[in-house]
This record gives sequence, structure tokens and C-alpha cells, in this order.
Amino acid sequence: MSKYYAKKDIYSKDGRLLLASGQEISEKTLIRLKSLDCAEAIEIVLQKEKSIYEKDIEESTRIIEQNLNSKGINYYKTASSIAAEILYESKNQPWWIYINTLSNYVNWMYLHAINVSIMSIMMAKVLKLDTLNEIALGAFLHDIGKMMIPKSVIQKPNKLTDVEMMYIKQHCELGVSMLKDHNLNQIIIDIISQHHEKQDGSGYPQGLKGAEIPVHSKIVTVADAIDAITSYRPYKLKKSLKTAIEELRQDTAKYPQDIIDAMSSLLL
Ligand SMILES: [Fe+2]
Ligand SMILES: [Fe+2]
Repeated sequence: MSKYYAKKDIYSKDGRLLLASGQEISEKTLIRLKSLDCAEAIEIVLQKEKSIYEKDIEESTRIIEQNLNSKGINYYKTASSIAAEILYESKNQPWWIYINTLSNYVNWMYLHAINVSIMSIMMAKVLKLDTLNEIALGAFLHDIGKMMIPKSVIQKPNKLTDVEMMYIKQHCELGVSMLKDHNLNQIIIDIISQHHEKQDGSGYPQGLKGAEIPVHSKIVTVADAIDAITSYRPYKLKKSLKTAIEELRQDTAKYPQDIIDAMSSLLL
């Protein structure tokens, strides 16, 4: 799925050109470059073309797209173009490393980040928010703290132990601490920190309630829950988008119904 290009000419220690700027880099070459002990190779910020993000988004969100009405399709197109632009434009930002790493870490985590971002932008647009770019990036990075948790826990196919669950629940705070020095907009930090908070105060890490949770975080909570229900995971089967909306509708204590309405207004 991932395709990389050299951002600049890369030379070996003895001055030989290893890769020319713009040249495509295969996974095999990438591994070789990473093993080279030279600053040039370590500093390679591998650049994905924007079209690659557009393709990743299109492939990842196919199920969502198939369930949209005509208004939903319009909003989906806007959301896809915002998300592709945000991911591509992040290449010169200090948090780029996290976007790049996530796209190569655990495939379903990358697809989940894309889906949550796209649905969040769409719901934010229905709710007429003017912070779509911040919500797009916050939603994409919402689970970034999971990169600090062992893959064996993230991908465990059966029930987590209490200790493993405790690790998982740290991912919100870990994500904030990973990004805290990067001068990110507060909306993005809120989303990373609060996307597991619930209306009735039963969420984590802070147990915030109702109006204490800002609308951008609530949007990502709903998108996150929808994608979790509609996606396959090593430990569970997937359900339809309609079933996901019905399940969240029944849980009125935890999920804000006005935001669920925003998503369902875009569905067939
Ligand atoms: Fe999360
Ligand atoms: Fe998530």
C-alpha cells in the first residue's frame, strides 16, 4: 500500500549517489537505507505523493462511501480532499514522523485513522463547524499513543487482561505527551486526549461529562465507535454501518445523539 520517494539526493559516505531526488524507494531499499549508519540516511523524510493518500483514503473508506446518500457523497468528497491535503501537507511538520510511521505500523490502525478522520470531517461539516482541518488531523492522530504500546497487546486476538487493558487506556495520555512539544492546535490535543470520554462520565482518562467534553472530541468519539463496530479486528467480526448507528442510538447515556444524527443524515 505504501509508496515512498526520496525527498532529496542521498549519497553514501564515499560520495556515491544512492538515490536521486524523486526516485521511488522499494521496501527492500528502505530497509537497506535504514541500516546505513549515516545522518543522511537517517534523516530521509520519505515522501508520499498526495495521490497515494487519495488512493489509501478511497480504498479504506469504500464501505462508508457505499452507504452514503447524495448529500453524503458530496460531503465525503470534501472530506477526502481535506484529509489527503492535511496528510500530504504534514510532510514538512514535526509530527510527520508519526503520520509516516502509523502508515507502516499496523495496517488496520492506519485504515482506522483514515476512516475516523473522514467520518469526523463529514459530521463536523453537517454541524457547520469551521475547524475541519484541525478535526481532520486530530482524528487521524487520535490513537497515535498506541504506537507506544507493544504490538502484541494491540493485536491480541483474545480478551485483554486487566493489566493489558490498563496499558491500552494510557494511549490518550501517551499520544498527548508524544505531541506536546509540536505546537499543535488545542483542538487536536483535545481530540487525542478526550476521544474515550463519555457523556455520562464513564469514559477515560478524566471521566469528563456532557458539556465538559467539547464538540470536536465528541465527534471523534462517535466516528471512533462507528469504525470500531464496522471493522474487522483480530479479536472481533465486523458489523454493518446501520447496525453501528443503531447500537450507538441505544446507548443514549454514553453517546451524543445530535452527533449520531449528523452521521445518519448522510446515510442511505
Ligand atoms: Fe483510542
Ligand atoms: Fe480509535
